[in-house]
Amino acid sequence: MSVLSWVRLTVCLWLLRKAVKVVKWLLIFAVAVAAWPVTVVACAGYAAALLCGWPSVRLRRAAAGALPMTAVWVLLEARRQHQWRAFALAPVRDWQGSWGQPTGPGMARTFLLLAPLAVPAGLVLAAGLWAWWNYAVTSGIRGWLASAPVTFDARQWRRQVRTAKGRIAAPGAVPLMASGGRIPAGGTIRSIGHRWRPVFAVPYPACTRHMVVVGATGSGKTNLMMRLWAGWFTAAADAAAAGRGRPPLLIVLDCKGGGDARVKAGRTWRLLHGAGARRVAIWPDEARLSLWDLPPADLAVLLFQMIESGDGAAAYYADIMQAVLTLAVTAPCGPPARAADFLARLDSRWLASAWDDGLHPGEVQRIRGAARHLPDIQLRFATLLGRLGQALDGPGNLRDADAWYFILGAPRGAVHSCGDGRAPPPGRRSGLVKLEAA
Ligand SMILES: Nc1ncnc2c1ncn2[C@@H]1O[C@H](COP(=O)(O)OP(=O)(O)OP(=O)(O)O)[C@@H](O)[C@H]1O
Ligand SMILES: [Mg+2]
Repeated sequence: MSVLSWVRLTVCLWLLRKAVKVVKWLLIFAVAVAAWPVTVVACAGYAAALLCGWPSVRLRRAAAGALPMTAVWVLLEARRQHQWRAFALAPVRDWQGSWGQPTGPGMARTFLLLAPLAVPAGLVLAAGLWAWWNYAVTSGIRGWLASAPVTFDARQWRRQVRTAKGRIAAPGAVPLMASGGRIPAGGTIRSIGHRWRPVFAVPYPACTRHMVVVGATGSGKTNLMMRLWAGWFTAAADAAAAGRGRPPLLIVLDCKGGGDARVKAGRTWRLLHGAGARRVAIWPDEARLSLWDLPPADLAVLLFQMIESGDGAAAYYADIMQAVLTLAVTAPCGPPARAADFLARLDSRWLASAWDDGLHPGEVQRIRGAARHLPDIQLRFATLLGRLGQALDGPGNLRDADAWYFILGAPRGAVHSCGDGRAPPPGRRSGLVKLEAA
């Protein structure tokens, strides 16, 4: 083959390929013009998805939402046309009408007549095209520049944020509780690996599992958590009233403290009272708890965990401290009733006399061994309990309130009663502990 004939063949093949492409686009154009009502709806749906940042599933759901209109149209046509052939050709007759009178009113009439079929079909078509375009741009198949996936994503994100903001601004769009015990959190910007819904809602049992809320400063984490607390409390209280589960007990640990801790506590107080809580206790300002009501073995472990004891070589002292605490708390005369009582027990003479009943020679031996460390241990606990003040010295019990708000790391305030004073009935409760650290 000469060079000239090779060039001719290559050019012919190129022209053939281009011709096939042109014919393909002409065919698509012809079909789009012929099925113009479907094309109009598809273009409108595609544009809405692009400008509002909708996912394609939003268009598919809109198409499904239009199906009742199609069903009514089918029923009415079936009643009007008595033959199958006439029924099947009814849309074609309506469509032909638009070509006979291509005027504005005529086209509008044809569109209305065909809308029951054109709307769902057009929306499904738009959903398919939009899904394909998203896939094509994000995977790099389409787009002029290498940065196309990034710019497309950033633009769509901005549009999705705008749409979500508009949604939550609509009155009643994000209520405190939704049906089925779901707690609406806010408008969904984008969902990844999860079914998309316009408003993101958490089923209330999910709150009793580990959960983390991540966001920049001032992005609304605390407000979201307050919604979740109130929502969980309402749903759990409703479930308990219906005989499903125990009455709720909500415990909030505000580890951040800070100047606005009491403002947040006050807002939570009002919100939970609105949600039906009879008593919301704010610790340490308005309520106390008694550490000393715990079962002795748990109390000994808790006291040990409250003091930093280190590891490595320091583990030796940690073991001595744990042994001393166990001896002090589980003494035969019963556990300590308050902090002063406990501190008095961290003394070798007290421990020796408490355990020296002839039945506990091993314990007496251990007390002798640990005697020289007891003043240090007492000093550390005196410092810790002094810092905590009387807030953990009772009287008080977690069952005294429906919800507890603990302000940790905040200055100690006056202690006075809160709520309407009516204590909720004692008994077992389903609990939720939430840590507000940011
Ligand atoms: N859903 C919301 N709609 C409108 N404004 C909100 C919303 N959530 C929070 N805000 C406002 O945003 C501001 C910050 O809220 P918030 O204190 O909850 O943020 P944060 O993420 O906890 O902040 P920080 O990181 O400082 O603790 C507040 O003024 C609050 O009123
Ligand atoms: Mg916060």
